[in-house]
Amino acid sequence: MKLTYLGHSTFLVEADGKRVIIDPFLEHNPKATLKPADVKVDAVLLSHAHFDHIADALPIAKANDCPIITNFELSEYYAKHGVKSHGLSIGGGFNFDFGRVKLTLAFHGAGLDIPGKDIVYGGSPAGILLTMGGKTIYHAGDTGLFGDMKLIGEMNKLDAALLPIGDNFTMGPDDALVAASWLKAGVTVPMHFNTFPLIEQDPQAFVNRLSEFGLKGAALEPGASVEI
Ligand code: NI
Ligand code: MN
Repeated sequence: MKLTYLGHSTFLVEADGKRVIIDPFLEHNPKATLKPADVKVDAVLLSHAHFDHIADALPIAKANDCPIITNFELSEYYAKHGVKSHGLSIGGGFNFDFGRVKLTLAFHGAGLDIPGKDIVYGGSPAGILLTMGGKTIYHAGDTGLFGDMKLIGEMNKLDAALLPIGDNFTMGPDDALVAASWLKAGVTVPMHFNTFPLIEQDPQAFVNRLSEFGLKGAALEPGASVEI
């Protein structure tokens, strides 16, 4: 499996000739190295309805004629906007042709901000367990630390854990370190930092501290990949 970081919480995942993108936020992220028009994927996975996770979902799904896979309410919203979608609820998984997606808990907000209108309920925020090519990754979405991450680590042999470290809106580095120690993934990759002034962090310092737990990490620059 090839895992490419595209900035903020956006990842491109490739295995066995299939490609999916998680939480596409490219067009309006000056740190992103890829334009939405250049994204070629078989599915778009969304952790939750906040702008910095869904911004390019619709154009990418339209251009690729591929489904948006996310929580049920948000999937219904996209179905009404003329794209294929598949809704899951937390704890539920489904086997797609590219691999398996299961939603996990995430403790966060759920508002969908419709431009020119109001903020509406966007369904439960979630984390994503994605299995492709025999490898499993956990994209935690936006979340605070919670004890059931221990269970996620116990129930899954994780090849990668993608964890927010930005603080303010999500876990900060100290809590993310505790999460990583529970998840015990083959590689821990920080995300959701340095996009906005409120979430400035040192990803390399976070990765260095993972060795306290005998864990490996990778602080990826936007555009950089790891093979897992
Ligand atoms: Ni959020
Ligand atoms: Mn966010």
